[in-house]
Amino acid sequence: MDSPFGLLAELTYRCPLACPYCSNPLNMAGYRDELALDEWRRVLAEAGDLGVLQCHLSGGEPLLRRDLVEIAAAAHDLGLYTNLVTSAVGLSRPRAERLRAAGLDHVQISIQADEAAVSDRIAGIPSFRRKIEAMRLVKELGWPLTMNVVLHRHNIDRVADVLTLAEEVGADRLELANTQYYGWAWRNRAALLPSRAQLDAAEVVVRAARERLRDRMDVIYVISDYYSRYPKPCMGGWASRQLTVTPNGDVLPCPAAQSLPLPRASVREDSLARIWAESPVMNAFRGTDWMPEPCRSCFRREVDFGGCRCQAFLLTGDAARTDPVCHLSPDHHLVAGAVEAANTGSRAGDPALVPRPHRARRPDRIPRG
Ligand code: SF4
Ligand code: FES
Repeated sequence: MDSPFGLLAELTYRCPLACPYCSNPLNMAGYRDELALDEWRRVLAEAGDLGVLQCHLSGGEPLLRRDLVEIAAAAHDLGLYTNLVTSAVGLSRPRAERLRAAGLDHVQISIQADEAAVSDRIAGIPSFRRKIEAMRLVKELGWPLTMNVVLHRHNIDRVADVLTLAEEVGADRLELANTQYYGWAWRNRAALLPSRAQLDAAEVVVRAARERLRDRMDVIYVISDYYSRYPKPCMGGWASRQLTVTPNGDVLPCPAAQSLPLPRASVREDSLARIWAESPVMNAFRGTDWMPEPCRSCFRREVDFGGCRCQAFLLTGDAARTDPVCHLSPDHHLVAGAVEAANTGSRAGDPALVPRPHRARRPDRIPRG
Protein backbone atom coordinates (compact mmCIF):
# COMPACT_ATOMS: atom_id res chain seq x y z
CA MET A 1 0.00 0.00 0.00
CA ASP A 2 1.36 3.41 -1.02
CA SER A 3 1.14 6.63 0.95
CA PRO A 4 -1.56 9.07 -0.12
CA PHE A 5 -0.22 11.90 -2.25
CA GLY A 6 -3.13 14.34 -2.27
CA LEU A 7 -5.69 15.40 0.33
CA LEU A 8 -8.97 16.95 -0.76
CA ALA A 9 -10.04 18.96 2.28
CA GLU A 10 -13.74 19.71 1.81
CA LEU A 11 -14.06 22.50 4.35
CA THR A 12 -17.79 23.12 3.94
CA TYR A 13 -20.61 22.17 1.59
CA ARG A 14 -22.19 25.62 2.03
CA CYS A 15 -22.03 27.61 -1.18
CA PRO A 16 -23.57 30.81 -2.53
CA LEU A 17 -23.85 29.29 -6.01
CA ALA A 18 -26.42 26.78 -7.25
CA CYS A 19 -24.67 24.98 -10.12
CA PRO A 20 -26.78 22.12 -11.47
CA TYR A 21 -23.64 20.01 -12.10
CA CYS A 22 -22.37 20.20 -8.51
CA SER A 23 -20.92 16.89 -7.34
CA ASN A 24 -21.61 17.59 -3.65
CA PRO A 25 -23.93 15.09 -1.96
CA LEU A 26 -27.70 15.47 -2.18
CA ASN A 27 -28.13 15.21 1.62
CA MET A 28 -26.04 18.23 2.54
CA ALA A 29 -27.92 18.63 5.84
CA GLY A 30 -25.91 15.65 7.11
CA TYR A 31 -22.68 17.69 6.91
CA ARG A 32 -23.56 20.79 8.93
CA ASP A 33 -21.45 19.79 11.94
CA GLU A 34 -18.21 21.03 10.35
CA LEU A 35 -14.75 20.28 11.70
CA ALA A 36 -13.38 23.15 13.80
CA LEU A 37 -10.05 24.83 13.11
CA ASP A 38 -8.20 22.72 15.69
CA GLU A 39 -9.62 19.54 14.17
CA TRP A 40 -8.45 20.60 10.71
CA ARG A 41 -5.02 21.40 12.13
CA ARG A 42 -4.80 17.87 13.51
CA VAL A 43 -6.04 16.33 10.25
CA LEU A 44 -3.49 18.29 8.22
CA ALA A 45 -0.65 17.29 10.56
CA GLU A 46 -1.70 13.64 10.35
CA ALA A 47 -1.92 13.92 6.57
CA GLY A 48 1.61 15.33 6.43
CA ASP A 49 2.88 12.46 8.63
CA LEU A 50 1.17 10.02 6.28
CA GLY A 51 3.08 11.39 3.28
CA VAL A 52 0.53 13.78 1.75
CA LEU A 53 2.26 16.48 -0.32
CA GLN A 54 -0.65 18.40 -1.84
CA CYS A 55 -3.67 19.82 -0.07
CA HIS A 56 -6.69 21.08 -2.01
CA LEU A 57 -8.88 23.39 0.07
CA SER A 58 -12.30 22.88 -1.43
CA GLY A 59 -16.03 22.68 -0.75
CA GLY A 60 -18.77 23.90 -1.39
CA GLU A 61 -17.19 27.29 -1.15
CA PRO A 62 -14.14 27.30 1.16
CA LEU A 63 -14.19 31.11 1.37
CA LEU A 64 -17.28 30.75 3.56
CA ARG A 65 -15.02 29.43 6.33
CA ARG A 66 -14.02 32.38 8.52
CA ASP A 67 -10.87 30.47 9.48
CA LEU A 68 -9.78 29.68 5.91
CA VAL A 69 -6.62 31.78 6.24
CA GLU A 70 -5.65 29.91 9.42
CA ILE A 71 -6.33 26.53 7.78
CA ALA A 72 -4.24 27.49 4.74
CA ALA A 73 -1.45 28.72 7.02
CA ALA A 74 -1.49 25.44 8.95
CA ALA A 75 -1.16 23.44 5.74
CA HIS A 76 1.61 25.68 4.46
CA ASP A 77 3.53 25.52 7.74
CA LEU A 78 3.47 21.72 7.49
CA GLY A 79 5.17 21.98 4.11
CA LEU A 80 2.12 21.00 2.05
CA TYR A 81 1.55 22.51 -1.40
CA THR A 82 -1.77 24.31 -0.97
CA ASN A 83 -4.39 24.88 -3.65
CA LEU A 84 -7.58 26.88 -3.10
CA VAL A 85 -10.48 25.52 -5.20
CA THR A 86 -13.06 28.30 -5.27
CA SER A 87 -15.87 30.04 -7.11
CA ALA A 88 -14.05 33.26 -6.04
CA VAL A 89 -17.30 34.79 -4.79
CA GLY A 90 -16.01 36.49 -1.66
CA LEU A 91 -12.34 36.70 -2.63
CA SER A 92 -11.91 40.32 -1.58
CA ARG A 93 -8.52 42.02 -1.82
CA PRO A 94 -7.90 41.95 1.98
CA ARG A 95 -8.79 38.25 2.13
CA ALA A 96 -6.60 37.46 -0.87
CA GLU A 97 -3.67 39.37 0.63
CA ARG A 98 -4.05 37.47 3.92
CA LEU A 99 -4.12 34.16 2.05
CA ARG A 100 -1.01 35.18 0.13
CA ALA A 101 0.77 36.06 3.37
CA ALA A 102 -0.34 32.72 4.85
CA GLY A 103 1.57 30.93 2.09
CA LEU A 104 -1.26 29.69 -0.13
CA ASP A 105 0.49 28.37 -3.26
CA HIS A 106 -2.12 28.20 -6.01
CA VAL A 107 -5.66 29.33 -6.81
CA GLN A 108 -8.20 27.54 -9.00
CA ILE A 109 -11.26 29.58 -9.92
CA SER A 110 -14.32 28.05 -11.54
CA ILE A 111 -16.40 29.97 -14.03
CA GLN A 112 -19.51 28.71 -15.75
CA ALA A 113 -19.02 30.25 -19.23
CA ASP A 114 -17.19 33.03 -21.06
CA GLU A 115 -20.13 35.39 -21.03
CA ALA A 116 -21.92 37.01 -18.07
CA ALA A 117 -25.52 36.10 -18.88
CA VAL A 118 -24.78 32.42 -19.55
CA SER A 119 -22.35 32.08 -16.64
CA ASP A 120 -24.74 33.72 -14.16
CA ARG A 121 -27.68 31.65 -15.36
CA ILE A 122 -25.76 28.42 -14.77
CA ALA A 123 -24.28 29.60 -11.44
CA GLY A 124 -27.71 30.69 -10.22
CA ILE A 125 -26.49 34.11 -9.03
CA PRO A 126 -24.80 37.14 -10.63
CA SER A 127 -21.15 36.20 -10.15
CA PHE A 128 -19.36 36.46 -13.52
CA ARG A 129 -18.01 39.99 -13.00
CA ARG A 130 -16.67 39.17 -9.52
CA LYS A 131 -14.98 36.05 -10.83
CA ILE A 132 -13.18 38.00 -13.55
CA GLU A 133 -12.07 40.61 -10.99
CA ALA A 134 -10.85 37.85 -8.69
CA MET A 135 -8.86 36.21 -11.49
CA ARG A 136 -7.11 39.49 -12.21
CA LEU A 137 -6.40 39.93 -8.50
CA VAL A 138 -4.93 36.43 -8.27
CA LYS A 139 -2.54 37.25 -11.12
CA GLU A 140 -1.71 40.64 -9.64
CA LEU A 141 -0.72 39.02 -6.35
CA GLY A 142 1.59 36.66 -8.21
CA TRP A 143 -0.24 33.35 -7.79
CA PRO A 144 -0.41 30.74 -10.51
CA LEU A 145 -4.03 30.67 -11.71
CA THR A 146 -6.06 27.75 -12.97
CA MET A 147 -9.36 28.61 -14.59
CA ASN A 148 -11.80 25.70 -14.36
CA VAL A 149 -14.88 25.33 -16.55
CA VAL A 150 -17.20 22.35 -16.21
CA LEU A 151 -18.47 21.55 -19.68
CA HIS A 152 -21.95 20.30 -20.50
CA ARG A 153 -24.68 20.60 -23.07
CA HIS A 154 -25.38 24.26 -22.21
CA ASN A 155 -21.87 25.69 -22.58
CA ILE A 156 -19.69 23.30 -24.56
CA ASP A 157 -20.48 25.09 -27.84
CA ARG A 158 -18.71 28.16 -26.39
CA VAL A 159 -15.37 26.49 -25.78
CA ALA A 160 -13.49 28.73 -28.25
CA ASP A 161 -14.71 31.82 -26.38
CA VAL A 162 -13.80 30.20 -23.06
CA LEU A 163 -10.25 29.75 -24.36
CA THR A 164 -10.14 33.43 -25.37
CA LEU A 165 -11.31 34.47 -21.90
CA ALA A 166 -8.64 32.31 -20.26
CA GLU A 167 -6.00 34.03 -22.38
CA GLU A 168 -7.39 37.47 -21.53
CA VAL A 169 -7.23 36.91 -17.77
CA GLY A 170 -3.75 35.38 -18.05
CA ALA A 171 -4.61 31.92 -16.74
CA ASP A 172 -1.59 29.65 -16.47
CA ARG A 173 -3.77 26.59 -16.78
CA LEU A 174 -7.24 26.02 -18.18
CA GLU A 175 -9.12 22.97 -17.05
CA LEU A 176 -11.99 22.09 -19.36
CA ALA A 177 -13.72 19.28 -17.52
CA ASN A 178 -16.65 17.48 -19.04
CA THR A 179 -19.25 16.91 -16.32
CA GLN A 180 -18.87 13.82 -14.18
CA TYR A 181 -22.26 12.52 -13.14
CA TYR A 182 -22.37 12.47 -9.32
CA GLY A 183 -24.46 14.41 -6.80
CA TRP A 184 -26.55 17.11 -8.46
CA ALA A 185 -25.00 16.34 -11.83
CA TRP A 186 -26.37 12.80 -11.59
CA ARG A 187 -29.82 14.23 -10.91
CA ASN A 188 -29.44 16.53 -13.96
CA ARG A 189 -27.71 14.05 -16.24
CA ALA A 190 -30.33 14.06 -19.00
CA ALA A 191 -30.18 17.85 -19.22
CA LEU A 192 -26.38 18.07 -19.04
CA LEU A 193 -25.09 15.29 -21.30
CA PRO A 194 -23.87 16.83 -24.57
CA SER A 195 -24.38 15.29 -27.99
CA ARG A 196 -21.61 13.55 -29.90
CA ALA A 197 -21.60 16.38 -32.45
CA GLN A 198 -21.04 18.94 -29.67
CA LEU A 199 -18.14 16.91 -28.24
CA ASP A 200 -16.52 16.36 -31.62
CA ALA A 201 -16.65 20.10 -32.40
CA ALA A 202 -15.21 21.03 -28.99
CA GLU A 203 -12.35 18.57 -29.32
CA VAL A 204 -11.26 20.09 -32.62
CA VAL A 205 -11.16 23.55 -31.02
CA VAL A 206 -9.27 22.32 -27.95
CA ARG A 207 -6.69 20.41 -29.99
CA ALA A 208 -5.90 23.49 -32.08
CA ALA A 209 -5.72 25.73 -28.98
CA ARG A 210 -3.34 23.35 -27.20
CA GLU A 211 -0.97 23.58 -30.13
CA ARG A 212 -1.25 27.37 -30.40
CA LEU A 213 -0.89 28.01 -26.65
CA ARG A 214 1.61 25.33 -25.75
CA ASP A 215 4.27 27.80 -24.49
CA ARG A 216 1.82 29.99 -22.59
CA MET A 217 -0.99 27.99 -21.03
CA ASP A 218 -1.64 24.36 -20.11
CA VAL A 219 -4.97 23.31 -21.53
CA ILE A 220 -6.33 20.24 -19.75
CA TYR A 221 -9.31 18.55 -21.35
CA VAL A 222 -11.17 15.99 -19.22
CA ILE A 223 -13.07 13.85 -21.68
CA SER A 224 -16.68 12.79 -21.33
CA ASP A 225 -16.31 9.21 -20.14
CA TYR A 226 -19.85 8.35 -21.29
CA TYR A 227 -18.47 8.60 -24.83
CA SER A 228 -15.32 6.57 -24.17
CA ARG A 229 -14.71 2.89 -24.90
CA TYR A 230 -12.92 2.43 -21.59
CA PRO A 231 -13.59 4.03 -18.21
CA LYS A 232 -11.37 6.55 -16.49
CA PRO A 233 -8.86 5.21 -13.94
CA CYS A 234 -10.86 6.92 -11.23
CA MET A 235 -8.67 8.45 -8.49
CA GLY A 236 -5.79 6.38 -9.88
CA GLY A 237 -7.41 3.38 -8.19
CA TRP A 238 -9.53 3.20 -5.03
CA ALA A 239 -7.60 4.42 -1.96
CA SER A 240 -4.39 4.35 -3.93
CA ARG A 241 -2.93 7.89 -3.82
CA GLN A 242 -5.78 10.26 -2.86
CA LEU A 243 -8.06 10.78 0.08
CA THR A 244 -10.95 13.11 0.86
CA VAL A 245 -12.03 14.49 4.22
CA THR A 246 -15.60 15.80 4.17
CA PRO A 247 -16.79 18.86 6.17
CA ASN A 248 -17.92 16.70 9.12
CA GLY A 249 -14.70 14.64 9.22
CA ASP A 250 -15.67 11.54 7.25
CA VAL A 251 -12.72 10.08 5.35
CA LEU A 252 -13.32 8.75 1.84
CA PRO A 253 -11.23 7.54 -1.08
CA CYS A 254 -13.04 10.00 -3.38
CA PRO A 255 -15.51 12.86 -2.96
CA ALA A 256 -18.49 10.91 -4.31
CA ALA A 257 -18.10 7.81 -2.15
CA GLN A 258 -20.45 9.05 0.55
CA SER A 259 -23.27 7.75 -1.65
CA LEU A 260 -21.99 4.16 -1.33
CA PRO A 261 -23.32 1.80 1.35
CA LEU A 262 -19.97 1.44 3.15
CA PRO A 263 -19.12 1.75 6.86
CA ARG A 264 -18.19 5.29 7.88
CA ALA A 265 -14.72 6.29 9.06
CA SER A 266 -14.24 9.66 10.74
CA VAL A 267 -11.24 11.67 11.89
CA ARG A 268 -13.36 12.44 14.96
CA GLU A 269 -13.12 8.78 15.97
CA ASP A 270 -9.81 7.54 14.63
CA SER A 271 -6.44 8.63 13.27
CA LEU A 272 -6.01 9.32 9.59
CA ALA A 273 -3.18 6.76 9.44
CA ARG A 274 -5.32 3.96 10.83
CA ILE A 275 -8.26 4.89 8.62
CA TRP A 276 -6.01 4.92 5.53
CA ALA A 277 -4.48 1.54 6.33
CA GLU A 278 -7.22 -0.45 8.04
CA SER A 279 -10.72 0.97 7.60
CA PRO A 280 -13.30 -1.07 5.66
CA VAL A 281 -14.15 1.97 3.49
CA MET A 282 -10.55 2.33 2.29
CA ASN A 283 -10.04 -1.38 1.77
CA ALA A 284 -13.37 -2.14 0.08
CA PHE A 285 -12.02 -1.85 -3.49
CA ARG A 286 -8.27 -1.50 -3.03
CA GLY A 287 -6.12 -3.42 -5.47
CA THR A 288 -7.64 -5.97 -7.84
CA ASP A 289 -8.88 -8.85 -5.64
CA TRP A 290 -12.42 -7.42 -5.43
CA MET A 291 -12.86 -7.39 -9.21
CA PRO A 292 -15.58 -9.35 -10.99
CA GLU A 293 -15.34 -10.50 -14.58
CA PRO A 294 -14.71 -9.09 -17.13
CA CYS A 295 -12.21 -6.93 -15.17
CA ARG A 296 -10.62 -9.82 -13.29
CA SER A 297 -9.10 -11.34 -16.41
CA CYS A 298 -8.77 -8.11 -18.41
CA PHE A 299 -5.43 -6.78 -19.64
CA ARG A 300 -6.45 -3.26 -18.49
CA ARG A 301 -7.26 -4.13 -14.87
CA GLU A 302 -4.21 -2.25 -13.60
CA VAL A 303 -4.65 0.54 -16.15
CA ASP A 304 -8.17 1.72 -15.29
CA PHE A 305 -8.79 -0.37 -12.13
CA GLY A 306 -12.25 -1.33 -13.38
CA GLY A 307 -13.28 2.32 -13.66
CA CYS A 308 -15.26 4.26 -11.11
CA ARG A 309 -16.90 2.53 -8.13
CA CYS A 310 -19.28 5.43 -7.53
CA GLN A 311 -20.42 5.42 -11.14
CA ALA A 312 -20.92 1.63 -11.03
CA PHE A 313 -23.06 2.07 -7.91
CA LEU A 314 -25.14 4.93 -9.29
CA LEU A 315 -25.83 3.10 -12.53
CA THR A 316 -26.31 -0.48 -11.29
CA GLY A 317 -26.87 -0.27 -7.52
CA ASP A 318 -23.73 -2.40 -6.98
CA ALA A 319 -20.37 -0.66 -6.47
CA ALA A 320 -18.50 -3.92 -7.12
CA ARG A 321 -19.54 -4.20 -10.75
CA THR A 322 -17.46 -3.17 -13.75
CA ASP A 323 -17.98 0.51 -14.55
CA PRO A 324 -20.81 0.46 -17.14
CA VAL A 325 -18.91 3.07 -19.17
CA CYS A 326 -16.65 0.21 -20.32
CA HIS A 327 -17.86 -1.31 -23.58
CA LEU A 328 -16.98 -4.76 -22.12
CA SER A 329 -19.28 -4.29 -19.11
CA PRO A 330 -22.49 -6.40 -19.07
CA ASP A 331 -24.22 -3.18 -17.94
CA HIS A 332 -22.91 -1.00 -20.75
CA HIS A 333 -26.45 -0.59 -22.16
CA LEU A 334 -27.16 1.72 -19.20
CA VAL A 335 -24.62 4.23 -20.50
CA ALA A 336 -25.38 3.57 -24.16
CA GLY A 337 -29.05 4.36 -23.49
CA ALA A 338 -28.23 7.73 -21.92
CA VAL A 339 -25.92 8.58 -24.81
CA GLU A 340 -28.57 7.61 -27.32
CA ALA A 341 -31.11 9.85 -25.59
CA ALA A 342 -28.65 12.76 -25.70
CA ASN A 343 -28.34 12.34 -29.46
CA THR A 344 -32.00 12.10 -30.36
CA GLY A 345 -34.90 14.50 -30.05
CA SER A 346 -34.94 18.24 -30.34
CA ARG A 347 -33.15 20.72 -28.06
CA ALA A 348 -36.54 22.32 -27.39
CA GLY A 349 -37.53 19.07 -25.70
CA ASP A 350 -34.53 19.05 -23.35
CA PRO A 351 -35.34 18.45 -19.69
CA ALA A 352 -34.92 21.50 -17.44
CA LEU A 353 -31.87 21.90 -15.21
CA VAL A 354 -32.58 21.54 -11.49
CA PRO A 355 -30.30 23.99 -9.62
CA ARG A 356 -28.53 22.84 -6.50
CA PRO A 357 -30.92 24.35 -3.93
CA HIS A 358 -28.41 24.98 -1.17
CA ARG A 359 -27.69 28.68 -0.87
CA ALA A 360 -26.39 28.81 2.65
CA ARG A 361 -26.06 32.55 2.93
CA ARG A 362 -26.12 35.68 0.85
CA PRO A 363 -22.88 36.48 -0.97
CA ASP A 364 -22.62 39.80 0.87
CA ARG A 365 -22.31 37.85 4.15
CA ILE A 366 -19.17 36.05 3.05
CA PRO A 367 -16.23 36.99 5.32
CA ARG A 368 -14.39 39.92 3.78
CA GLY A 369 -11.11 40.29 5.64
FE1 SF4 B 1 -11.19 -1.78 -17.45
FE2 SF4 B 1 -12.68 -3.78 -16.46
FE3 SF4 B 1 -13.30 -2.66 -18.84
FE4 SF4 B 1 -11.12 -4.20 -18.57
S1 SF4 B 1 -13.25 -4.86 -18.36
S2 SF4 B 1 -11.25 -2.26 -19.67
S3 SF4 B 1 -10.43 -3.66 -16.46
S4 SF4 B 1 -13.35 -1.67 -16.82
FE1 FES C 1 -15.71 7.51 -6.37
FE2 FES C 1 -14.85 7.29 -8.94
S1 FES C 1 -15.83 8.99 -7.94
S2 FES C 1 -14.52 5.91 -7.28
